[in-house]
Amino acid sequence: MKKTGNQKACVIGWPIKHSRSPLIHGFWLEKYGVSGSYEKIAVAPENLSQFLKDMSKNGFQGCNVTIPHKEKVFKEVFVNDVLTKRIGAVNTVFTEGGELLGLNTDGYGFISNLKSGVKSWNSAGKSAMIIGAGGAARAIIAILLEDGVERIDLVNRTPSRASALAKEFGDRVHAYGFDEMSSCLRKADLLINTTSLGMTGQPPLEISLESLSSLSVVTDIVYDPLETDLLKQAKSNGNPTVDGLGMLLHQAVPGFEKWFGIRPEVTEELRQLIVDDLMKDDEQ
Ligand code: ATR
Repeated sequence: MKKTGNQKACVIGWPIKHSRSPLIHGFWLEKYGVSGSYEKIAVAPENLSQFLKDMSKNGFQGCNVTIPHKEKVFKEVFVNDVLTKRIGAVNTVFTEGGELLGLNTDGYGFISNLKSGVKSWNSAGKSAMIIGAGGAARAIIAILLEDGVERIDLVNRTPSRASALAKEFGDRVHAYGFDEMSSCLRKADLLINTTSLGMTGQPPLEISLESLSSLSVVTDIVYDPLETDLLKQAKSNGNPTVDGLGMLLHQAVPGFEKWFGIRPEVTEELRQLIVDDLMKDDEQ
């Protein structure tokens, strides 16, 4: 379904200044010779409904959606994808038959990144430990369950939030507070930080990986810095690690395909482009 002509897409958020999505999609537009465009548009919460209503009229094939609009867009567009329904948030909007459809590709981005980082990874029968119980955790729980993990331990600063989320996803998901971190680590084949702890400008994630097997895979959704303290500690213990940048790159793939008709590839060249941009920010 290769599309022709001047397709337009964008990313919306409030604020939107720091989004790297235009760099990613711009790279692919050029690489595949598509005469389209991808821009960032700041949309205030009070203007979101109108923006969606006018999207096709304004010539957009669709958009990416980022903070703080993902949950609201979920309520405003048609969602038929089961995983997206489970996540309850939309990060990719496209048009089909004159209708706006919503998808959540964060889970897809997570699992694609994990599998391209650790080629031998197979979720079946595995136990995962997730730190955090927010929107990112929700997308990752949904995809891991679909991919066949046997058990997920959700560890959160506010245990009640973890319990509420665990309850929604059924009996494979269990909730804990930070005080049970080390007993959960003992069981984990996969450890994922889904909080912003460890990100540049945020507090550190205070964790000791002493009780984690050195065979367990450790991954962080934080990608600034690329190598977080969590990943550094894991690497020095001999654990396989996967950084968070690949999730950002892979989650962009389905949107590009919907809007521009080509399924793009996540390559080392694309990754380097974003790494260079992250470094530019550090210098400022
Ligand atoms: P997102 O949608 O990006 O996941 P979110 O819904 O705000 O963001 O969730 C943020 C997660 O990071 C939550 O699990 C939050 O813990 P609480 O539920 O206890 O708030 C966690 N988090 C954020 N800042 C934290 C901090 N300083 N210490 C511990 N956990 C933190």
